[in-house]
Amino acid sequence: MQVKLKIFRYNPETDKKPHYETYKVEAEPTDRVLDLLEYVKNYIDGTISYRRSCAHGVCGSDAMRINGVNCLACKVLVKDLGTTNIRIEPLLGMGVHKDLIVDMEPFFEHYRSVLPYLINDEPPPKRERLQSPEEREHFDDTTKCILCAACTTSCPSYWANEDYVGPAAIVNAHRFIFDSRDRAAAQRLEILNDQFGVYRCHTIFNCTLACPREIEVTKAIGEVKKAIATGKLD
Ligand code: FES
Repeated sequence: MQVKLKIFRYNPETDKKPHYETYKVEAEPTDRVLDLLEYVKNYIDGTISYRRSCAHGVCGSDAMRINGVNCLACKVLVKDLGTTNIRIEPLLGMGVHKDLIVDMEPFFEHYRSVLPYLINDEPPPKRERLQSPEEREHFDDTTKCILCAACTTSCPSYWANEDYVGPAAIVNAHRFIFDSRDRAAAQRLEILNDQFGVYRCHTIFNCTLACPREIEVTKAIGEVKKAIATGKLD
């Protein structure tokens, strides 16, 4: 089958404003959108720019808007789109470096702000810090985040105010707040209780729908809100 790719193009060094270019490509229903982008770059127009690395839904680098929906280009098959007209655009709410490449730095700044690492100054036991399967289960889901930014950039609260820490940062805070080995939950909850923290979330659920790892993002945000309100972690 032939598909028509309408791709957002913008080079801030040469273009006054963004525009779209259309490419016609032969495709199999089982081709991924990333395969089509690779074809365009390798055989039609080498100037097109996008990020990708693993090509298997692991690294999170090829998040983009495909027919208006945030997803990983390496995980979307042509047959899943239900159309041969495919519009490909950069994530919303981020500055565009070039074409489909966005500036991820504000996203990672929010991520770093929630202390996304284990904090425990107590002397380590002889072997490892033990944890029961039940304790681990509490944050199993949020360990799956690959920092692709699909959730944060699908959130209207983030579009409205980029100072909002955003769903991905909260997910990564959740991963450590509910880790029984960690000792900095109170510190993270205080960070997330500020005017640009969890209460900017209006439970819209876009983040949960956008997550390519199927993390229950809104649920995790709700658990963090509850922990702030009750001062309890269970
Ligand atoms: S290229 Fe790594 S997640 Fe798609």
